[in-house]
Amino acid sequence: MEFSTQTTASLHQIKTPALAIGVFGDGILSPAADIIDRASNGALREALKTEFKGKPNTHLVLRNLPGISATRVILVGLGKQDSYNAAAHAAGELVFANYCANAGLAEGVSALAAIECADAGLRARARAAAVAAGRATYRYNATLSKKQDDAPKLRKITVWIARTQATEAQNGLREGRAMANGMNLTRLLGDLPPNVCTPTYLGSTAKKLAKEFKSLKAEVLDRKQIETLKMGSFLSVARGSYEAPAFIVLKHAAAGGKTAKNRKAPIVLVGKGITFDAGGISLKPAANMDEMKYDMCGAASVLGTLRAVAELELDRDVIGLIPACENLPSGRANKPGDVVTSMSGQTIEILNTDAEGRLVLCDALTYAERFKPAAVIDIATLTGACVVALGHVNTGLFSKDDALADSLLRAGREANDTAWRLPLDEAYQEQLRSNFADIANIGGPPAGAVTAACFLSRFAGSYPWAHLDIAGTAWRSGKDKGASGRPVPLLVQYLLGQA
Ligand code: BES
Ligand code: MN
Ligand code: ZN
Repeated sequence: MEFSTQTTASLHQIKTPALAIGVFGDGILSPAADIIDRASNGALREALKTEFKGKPNTHLVLRNLPGISATRVILVGLGKQDSYNAAAHAAGELVFANYCANAGLAEGVSALAAIECADAGLRARARAAAVAAGRATYRYNATLSKKQDDAPKLRKITVWIARTQATEAQNGLREGRAMANGMNLTRLLGDLPPNVCTPTYLGSTAKKLAKEFKSLKAEVLDRKQIETLKMGSFLSVARGSYEAPAFIVLKHAAAGGKTAKNRKAPIVLVGKGITFDAGGISLKPAANMDEMKYDMCGAASVLGTLRAVAELELDRDVIGLIPACENLPSGRANKPGDVVTSMSGQTIEILNTDAEGRLVLCDALTYAERFKPAAVIDIATLTGACVVALGHVNTGLFSKDDALADSLLRAGREANDTAWRLPLDEAYQEQLRSNFADIANIGGPPAGAVTAACFLSRFAGSYPWAHLDIAGTAWRSGKDKGASGRPVPLLVQYLLGQA
């Protein structure tokens, strides 16, 4: 996909198959809408009188307007002007990009980013336009015998800006393109069936990325090497399956070619890579169990984020760690009551084999210590309880570090990929008490998302750490079942701020 900017004042003279013009609810015209209205002798105001009210997530197509060079003007509803914010802008860009992709258009020009928005500068608005185009053009084809015939031809989005701030807009488009490419990798990995997207497949994806981008180096540890590291907790989950586990280390080296002396400590991302979660001996019910192929979306978001970071040649060391395996019932699987020894030395009583995410993550968190990281962020489809708490809108964020938590929350707002902070008080740790080990792997029904985070905190004591529970945000169920690519925008935005 190609992205460009156009700064000409004569919006009405732009030749394009589709030109997006923002219209607020209450019928207030954006400056761009005003230009089009004047040039077309009031055709736009005419349409607003009856057919179009500017509601969010709506659009109206006007064809062959007199005095306008664009073949179509797409009026995009932006909602009320006084509540116009980054999210409303992003939603508008998505309406337009979806229109272009679904109509089979090759290119389009959006004037939406030209609308001033208190919440988001021009750079962020251009970024959102590129992310929207990436989202609109994603189609899953990998395991279809016939490629979908509605495959979008959309190849180019141009962002029209009223003033001469082309550099800001171009930077935003560049960042947005990297986010979109990262998200689409994350989405594809999530959507792939679990008999294709195995731990080995995740490992070869990391190696492929390292071939494609010179800043990336990949290392995939096999079962033997994982045993040598004494990752007894991770291995206990992997043992129940015939599929080989993998521990993936994917490193991005800062672009600046920094000397060892002024090199900043790396930021480590840890992604849960359960390529299928049947629950193990604590077997899950059959309904919708297919969706547990998405239990590697944390891993997929780490790979997608590193892809984006590499494409952007980010000036900061970033390391991705992925413990990947299946969680299946078998004669060799974990049993409720088993006690295992983690890499940290802490023993864990497994009271429910379906609480496996924390069992694989804890060893990766211990492994992260060797990098003396500035921060460690783990990303995991960890608990159904987080879906109950926050639904499909916000990712759950847990951290004892206020500065880190605030940076992540802010990045999420800026990138329209929001998180909501949940507590991590010491008082919850009580629920993880075990009579037979240092810690139990479940904390009972109350505050299930919190006690899962508390479990992880026991292994993340030696560096600033945050945990993102993406169980509700990584994919959508139902008719439009599919991976979302979240929280790649949040993570890339955060890392851009740390470079
Ligand atoms: N992968 C699941 C969490 C999950 C469930 C994510 C549904 C999205 C939708 C995780 O491994 C799990 O099974 N968690 C259990 C924990 C419980 C046994 C303490 C859960 O949430 O039920
Ligand atoms: Mn589980
Ligand atoms: Zn799981």
